[in-house]
Amino acid sequence: MDRFLIKGPCKIKGQVSISGSKNAALPILASTILFEKPVIIKNLPRVKDIDTMLNLLKSLGSKIQFLNNKSTVKITKNKKKKIFASYSLVKTMRAGILVLGPMIAKHHKSITSLPGGCLIGARPVNYHLNALKKLGMRYEIKKGYIHAISKGKLKGAIIKFSNISVGATENSIIAACLAKGKTILKNCAIEPEIKDLTDFLRSAGAKIKWIGKRTVQIDGVQSLNSIKYSVMGDRIEAGTFCVIASISNGNLLIKNFDPNLIKTELNLLKKIGSKIKIFKKEIYIQGTNKIKNINSIITKEYPNFPTDLQAQFMVLLCKANGRSIITENIFENRFMHVAELRRLGAKIMIKDNKAFIEGNTEFLGAELMSSDLRASAALVIAAIVAKGKSVINRIYHLDRGYEKIENKLRKIGANIKRLS
Ligand code: EPZ
Repeated sequence: MDRFLIKGPCKIKGQVSISGSKNAALPILASTILFEKPVIIKNLPRVKDIDTMLNLLKSLGSKIQFLNNKSTVKITKNKKKKIFASYSLVKTMRAGILVLGPMIAKHHKSITSLPGGCLIGARPVNYHLNALKKLGMRYEIKKGYIHAISKGKLKGAIIKFSNISVGATENSIIAACLAKGKTILKNCAIEPEIKDLTDFLRSAGAKIKWIGKRTVQIDGVQSLNSIKYSVMGDRIEAGTFCVIASISNGNLLIKNFDPNLIKTELNLLKKIGSKIKIFKKEIYIQGTNKIKNINSIITKEYPNFPTDLQAQFMVLLCKANGRSIITENIFENRFMHVAELRRLGAKIMIKDNKAFIEGNTEFLGAELMSSDLRASAALVIAAIVAKGKSVINRIYHLDRGYEKIENKLRKIGANIKRLS
């Protein structure tokens, strides 16, 4: 298994180009199951989860061609309709559940593996199943698989999500595109990746319109048109690099993403002392050597502070000149990075879903273990500013969601090597 060897502290300076958003690309790729005609998708990040989704689509009968560079694919549905989404593919990537909605909408039949939990939480799919049931899907769960059918087309319905869920919102929007009649989804997640999905579907002829802050209306259509679409830049990767500049007193020009999507995070970084200049598709950020603490960061659904940047900001607050508190409201077990940060010298106390961070920490290099995608990014950030050598094990977690991360880091001054 690959590991990273990082020698800190590193002087961070230069520019970094943000890749396409994994969490926008995954539902967009899954929704191509709805199409009869070819679709071209650009700006795909070359990360493990995207490869897994493309393999899953291939196993479901799609033809995948990489055009010019590997970040553009042409997806063509072949005539053979396959409906079995295997555990071997879905277990490594929870977003595999996103093929259920389009399969039921298109083929009226699907056998999809339950995605299984992961380290950050049980991550059930009950909100997905309840919503699709209201659209006419009937299912039973046998030996870890969801055996689903619908009598002919799905039928539009009015559905109010009991809790906000990114994936359940995405699955339902995709399924409703081909349903008969009107669907209204209430209490939706409104993460930017969902807007990218609805922009993609609408440009292919789907009739989708947001009629309230968290309410979307979908009028079913017969079919979708062939289109070419470019995926949005990854706001979580951009936020991760903003933390790297802020914690290392470095300066970075971070390009190819929409800064408006990380307004909450940028305001916090200004509060801790970073200097930030915002342009249309990039930002310039200058860190500080006097990092101010922040009394409280609370993760919540968009547009509030995102759970996917919680671990990275925790590392930053370890270096702040005072105490900070982070409250994690989205996942029940998303503090796995804390034990590893303590090995670097962090003083953090956990009580329920709150992390109390002492601050004024001098990180000293150590051997570390990755546990999940964003926690691994946090360990990389800490190792970059730690004194001495750090080894980060199981970086396959990182490879799931950060494209060519060590090349990007080396280019801005990090002393990092991948050991296979
Ligand atoms: C998406 O996961 C993202 N993944 C996650 O990013 C992100 O952390 C999460 O949204 C929250 O923003 C992708 O987009 C591929 P949810 P998702 O449904 O859709 C519970 C990363 O690092 N829940 O909004 O699975 C769930 O357990 C990943 O890129 C149910 O109980 O998130 C969680 O506690 C990590 N039943 C909460 O709701 C359900 O049916 C929010 O989950 C669905 C969810």
